[in-house]
Amino acid sequence: MANLYKTMLQPLVFSGLQADPEAVHRQLLSGLGWMSRGCQGHRPAQCTPVPWLLNQWSRTYGWIDPRLEQQLWGLTFSNPVGLAAGFDKDGIATHVWPHFGFGFAEVGTVTAQAQPGNPRPRLFRLPQDQAAINRMGFNNRGAERMAQTLAAAQQHRPHAIPLGINLGKSKVTPVAEAAEDYRYSFQQLYAYGDYFVINVSSPNTPGLRSLQAVDQLEPILEALQTANQPRKPLLVKIAPDLNWEEIAAIVALAQTYALSGIIATNTTLSRQGLSTQHLSATGNSPQAEVGGLSGAPLAQRSTEVIRFIYQQTQGSLPIIGVGGIMGAEDAWEKLTAGASLLQVYTGWIYEGPSLVRQILQGLLARLQAEGFPHLQAAVGYRHPDAAKT
Ligand SMILES: Cc1cc2nc3c(=O)[nH]c(=O)nc-3n(C[C@H](O)[C@H](O)[C@H](O)COP(=O)(O)O)c2cc1C
Repeated sequence: MANLYKTMLQPLVFSGLQADPEAVHRQLLSGLGWMSRGCQGHRPAQCTPVPWLLNQWSRTYGWIDPRLEQQLWGLTFSNPVGLAAGFDKDGIATHVWPHFGFGFAEVGTVTAQAQPGNPRPRLFRLPQDQAAINRMGFNNRGAERMAQTLAAAQQHRPHAIPLGINLGKSKVTPVAEAAEDYRYSFQQLYAYGDYFVINVSSPNTPGLRSLQAVDQLEPILEALQTANQPRKPLLVKIAPDLNWEEIAAIVALAQTYALSGIIATNTTLSRQGLSTQHLSATGNSPQAEVGGLSGAPLAQRSTEVIRFIYQQTQGSLPIIGVGGIMGAEDAWEKLTAGASLLQVYTGWIYEGPSLVRQILQGLLARLQAEGFPHLQAAVGYRHPDAAKT
């Protein structure tokens, strides 16, 4: 079943039969949402006939080994590979993600106000580069609706894996009122997340990335940490396009406000190193399409950012590493650069659902080969100062 995706489904997903990647995504997610809901709120006759299929997926795509377990923020992650934000923006399929082998899942970005996002087309594939460009613009049903969805899901049964909730600023809210906008979403959703992420790094909401500047980020951290009682883990997600000084300033602020970690990184504005000349959807060059680039071309830069943060903090601030993880080698690079947890998005599209298991088995092989007793021991191992400590 693992190769079924590559041999049969992926060609369909990528070919002319379904040329619009967003339509494919919507259909896939609505199917998974239906499966996730199961019998919740339905009469038995309307129950989705899926438990056997979900169990089959768990057996096919999951991999359990105690050496992969991570303990962070009082949470147990049965493995370090999570689903990155943006895939399940409204949190409709939370019960399905553990069956694909994920150790955690992050839903959102959700904003205080429901919003449609940018006009289509807004998602482009670059298969030649194993990459994607998106300018979705935080299309989502809003914080209140997500709270209802997650409440219903949790009433049905508790989540099997830690759930992160990624918060963004509503497009209609002026940058000067961002703190209140984030605080509203946080309060709506506080009960349902195991950790929360302040997303100030999407390139697709005008002015959002300016919130990464210390004077603009500080009031948001202040507002959220004041509302954060009792404390749940709060992280900030940053862009790969910041310079070292800007990253160092955010790291310092994260420490001042006792944030629980940093997610590095979001998509990049860079188009360096692409071999794609024209996007099939528009005929335009990748340079001509506005949006964030994800996938393989992002891998190296996001790993550099992880290494820099690890170095700055001497490993004291947990990092979730994301950006261009297409296989176990990329995952190992990020872990040994200093990431305690990992996330995938574009790699999962290209490689299919067997990616998580493939990464976990590859990581175990590396642990064994390099003589590490468990994953945590390998975190930051390739950091330049690691040999001295
Ligand atoms: C179509 C698409 C939508 C995304 N939406 C979000 C989002 O809503 N919030 C967010 O924080 N990141 C979002 N991301 C960024 C991913 O979470 C991730 O940080 C980035 O894609 C790099 O990882 P990857 O190379 O594995 O895709 C999105 C990425 C893609 C491709």
